[in-house]
Amino acid sequence: MRMYDLISQKKEGKTLSTEEIRWMVQHYAEEEIPDYQMSAMLMAICFQGLNRQETLDLTLAMRDSGDCLDLSRIHGIKADKHSTGGVGDKTTLVLAPIIAALGIPMAKMSGRGLGHTGGTIDKLACFPGFTTDLSEEAFFANVNRIGLAIAGQTANLAPADKKLYALRDVTATVSQMSLIAASIMSKKLAAGSDLIVLDVKTGSGAFMKEEADAIRLAETMVSIGAMAGKKMAAVITDMDQPLGRAVGNALEVKEAIAALSGDGPADLMEVVYALGSRILLLSGVAEREEDAVKSMKQCVADGSAKKKFAAFVEAQGGDASYVWDMEKWKQAAYRIEALAEKKGYVQTIDAEAIGIACMLLGGGREKKDDAIDLSVGILLLKKRGDVTEAGEALALIYANDEAKAKEAIRLVQGAYVISEAAPASVPMVKAILDGANNAKSSCI
Ligand code: URA
Repeated sequence: MRMYDLISQKKEGKTLSTEEIRWMVQHYAEEEIPDYQMSAMLMAICFQGLNRQETLDLTLAMRDSGDCLDLSRIHGIKADKHSTGGVGDKTTLVLAPIIAALGIPMAKMSGRGLGHTGGTIDKLACFPGFTTDLSEEAFFANVNRIGLAIAGQTANLAPADKKLYALRDVTATVSQMSLIAASIMSKKLAAGSDLIVLDVKTGSGAFMKEEADAIRLAETMVSIGAMAGKKMAAVITDMDQPLGRAVGNALEVKEAIAALSGDGPADLMEVVYALGSRILLLSGVAEREEDAVKSMKQCVADGSAKKKFAAFVEAQGGDASYVWDMEKWKQAAYRIEALAEKKGYVQTIDAEAIGIACMLLGGGREKKDDAIDLSVGILLLKKRGDVTEAGEALALIYANDEAKAKEAIRLVQGAYVISEAAPASVPMVKAILDGANNAKSSCI
């Protein structure tokens, strides 16, 4: 086989076979195909696309380029959840302990934040001592004992995707739908769960700005997962304003703890319950959506989800007293209000701009090795539909540097669109895709 011929085939809009895709991914991962040839292939894919079978083949080839986790040592059906990334998205911290408290094990691999979106691993690092660097033994033991463990992604999880993603990033080929779907699903399939629920965000703070694109991406990923033998569902959720009120690592963890204490913001809880329902229905724990939501609410109300969260933090070396005592949390040095410049209704809040303001405060990474300040962030006092007077506080900026705080205030004020008319109400959950499949998956 010659890479030259495969590039030429795709350039002419022809289909690549399973063998050809496997050969290409394997030889690229082994550095036998140079970046310039793979770049040409990626660009040809951008113009010609991949069909479902080719997308599945690419996904499986990338999955099999590294380790595939065998979770059979964990009892019961294993669930995983993935978000395509948003601003203020602390859903995993609330959802995972609720699901674990209801008896469904969650063995999760999570990532660090990059750019304007945050990552679960950074949020968990707010607990002194917490580690996601777990041995395989500890990972399995924790899931079997507590029902929940979250590890950082190992270097050898879908390494071909890592190499391809870096190339896509510098060749303007990141946004192609099949490439995104294959990239996300290769890692999810390698992580070994039986059931995967996807939170595909759409709006100003999301990767997919348009709802139709988010639905198309969700459909592609659900069908790939189902073809690979997984029970799959996707929920398309709004990211046209940040989720909840807190943006920034420690602020978000505190909001997640409040949510587990029964005091979560309505939008966050709606997303949590929509995703959680899919897990409970697909795993057979609930037969009807109403029952699923009722049992999730019950385990928040009776404290079992919060206890589960504390047990999980402790099992991964973290100081769980931070779950129970909010006074322990270290505040940023400055807390400054961002004021409304005029009166009216909050029409929208540009989520990406809020994410960038948080990054500028030091709460996010521009480059993947940047250090981050866990204590900074933004607390949104006004959200879409709220009324404000001129001079009233829209948000609180938590900063450790006064100059950065001033810059963040400017960005936050610019992110708010205030108008005379009340905005139309926007549903948090825009669509739900279900695609169950019971077939077995294996690394091939
Ligand atoms: N996240 C991924 O893991 N891959 C993509 O291609 C896009 C987002």
